[in-house]
Amino acid sequence: MAVRSLGYVVIEAEDLGSWHDFACNVAGLMPAASDREDVALFRMDDRPFRFWVQKGEQNRFIAPGWEFADQADFESALAALEAAGRPVERADVMEARARKVYELARSSDPAGNAMELFYGRFVDYVPFVSPAGVSRFVTGEHGSMGLGHVVLTAPNFEEVHAFYKDVLGFGDTDLGRFYLMGGGPDDPGIGFAFLHCNGRHHSLALGQMPESPNGAVHMMLEVGTLEDVGRAYDRVLKSKGKVPLSATLGRHVNDKMTSFYMQTPGGFDIEYGWDGLVIDPVTWTPTTSLAVSDWGHKWAHEKDD
Ligand SMILES: [Fe+2]
Repeated sequence: MAVRSLGYVVIEAEDLGSWHDFACNVAGLMPAASDREDVALFRMDDRPFRFWVQKGEQNRFIAPGWEFADQADFESALAALEAAGRPVERADVMEARARKVYELARSSDPAGNAMELFYGRFVDYVPFVSPAGVSRFVTGEHGSMGLGHVVLTAPNFEEVHAFYKDVLGFGDTDLGRFYLMGGGPDDPGIGFAFLHCNGRHHSLALGQMPESPNGAVHMMLEVGTLEDVGRAYDRVLKSKGKVPLSATLGRHVNDKMTSFYMQTPGGFDIEYGWDGLVIDPVTWTPTTSLAVSDWGHKWAHEKDD
């Protein structure tokens, strides 16, 4: 029943042109053929697309597309969602065909974050070539680690955390609680959960924060070399603020990712990193990290010290 990977993301954009420019010329994603004028697709590997960007009235992240191994796992996940009281809407055959999957359904978590669920590993044999010269995006053997990770907000943190574990089969990788109100016995702290569904350190992270106006806090893409990260960093700096740098280069303590953060045309950030930790989900004992980054990751909103 468990989710296997983060298969794709669905994004809404007022202007597909600015997403195209950002995706291809800054992030280095490969444009893919789209049957619809109001949808732009971008590839990272041999999947037909990893980014589905559709024209709309807002600039925002709409939903992660969670992949299941087969029909049996997909059906048992839908049954588990229904049993947990979540709405389940099955998409029709033409919608599934447009997403290039066998079957597609939609639901949401108890914080109201939308999600899509699917199975069917369709493959595009046109070789992936990055228009920005990125060597490769790290998605695991045959895409087994998914496209990266997504970070969502969950004001009702405990409920949402339990939902992803009990209903969709995620496992804890790293759990944290940050005490920002003095840390006394009356300080409840703010919860963070980094969850895995394959060897990638986390495919999903939840933060006990108010609902994000952009639909997500950030998503992460991993590239093949440190040079890929450095060159993308240069492209952001060269954009002279057109692509805002959200956090400087740094290294996270928990997933060991060397990365920086930039703002997408959707308002949410993309973390762009290299050398993330791969775990063995069978033997992993969850950690609690006392810090976020070993060095760097200075946020744009942080004051100079
Ligand atoms: Fe991240």
